[in-house]
Amino acid sequence: MRPDRSVASVKGVAVATQADAIATYLAELTVVEDDVLRHARERAAVGGMPPVSADSGAFLRFAARWVGAQAAVEIGSGAGYSGVWIARGLAPKGILTTIEADPGHQRLAKETYEEAGLSSRIRAILGRALDVLPRLTDGGYDLAFLDAKKSEYPEYLEHALRLVRPGGVIIADNVLWSGRVADPKVTDPDTEGLRAYGRRIAGDERLDSVILTVGDGLAVSRMRRHEELEA
Ligand SMILES: C[S@@+](CC[C@H](N)C(=O)[O-])C[C@H]1O[C@@H](n2cnc3c(N)ncnc32)[C@H](O)[C@@H]1O
Repeated sequence: MRPDRSVASVKGVAVATQADAIATYLAELTVVEDDVLRHARERAAVGGMPPVSADSGAFLRFAARWVGAQAAVEIGSGAGYSGVWIARGLAPKGILTTIEADPGHQRLAKETYEEAGLSSRIRAILGRALDVLPRLTDGGYDLAFLDAKKSEYPEYLEHALRLVRPGGVIIADNVLWSGRVADPKVTDPDTEGLRAYGRRIAGDERLDSVILTVGDGLAVSRMRRHEELEA
């Protein structure tokens, strides 16, 4: 059940009506989608897998650059929209590993990577996240982005904690779930998974976390370094 409020979308930025004017103002100033991203958003609409908002995508690129990411892992490729933003933020020879369970979605994502000229920098793995993640290298990633099955987010987090190096970041999309996480009457597995995720990052000493009200909510967690854990 969606909260009873009208929501507008500006370049994919979902906001409550009272904030429309501000969102329009910010979207014009901060988020520029080129043809590659616009086409990826169109593929996603055809395939029925909603991409992150444009400002969330811009944040992913920003985060990848901020941590100097050489290697990133994404759970849930969709049509490749978020993957392009992340890959564009990687260091020059950086590689994005992206996991997708649906072959049709992966096909669309590969079209997007091809159009972006990023095919050689993106390793697309077909499979269910919980089958693929155990095969990835401990501490081998600077950034993890979670955007597949919401009920599995707590399990994705356990893998991300193993995969991301100290100083790296774990980012999860949809943590506000159009407000459903704040409605106690909503108790479906996806909403509960998102609530459990929020509680876990808030209570984990290994992480510095903040939830940003960008798009549908981005949970951003930085892995503390050894010396920071002791401080
Ligand atoms: C919301 S879409 C991802 C959108 C994409 N991150 C973007 O912003 O462009 C979620 C994707 O996760 C995939 N998915 C769902 N469950 C999965 C699972 N268990 N393992 C891997 N992928 C999964 C879906 O097929 C879908 O393509």
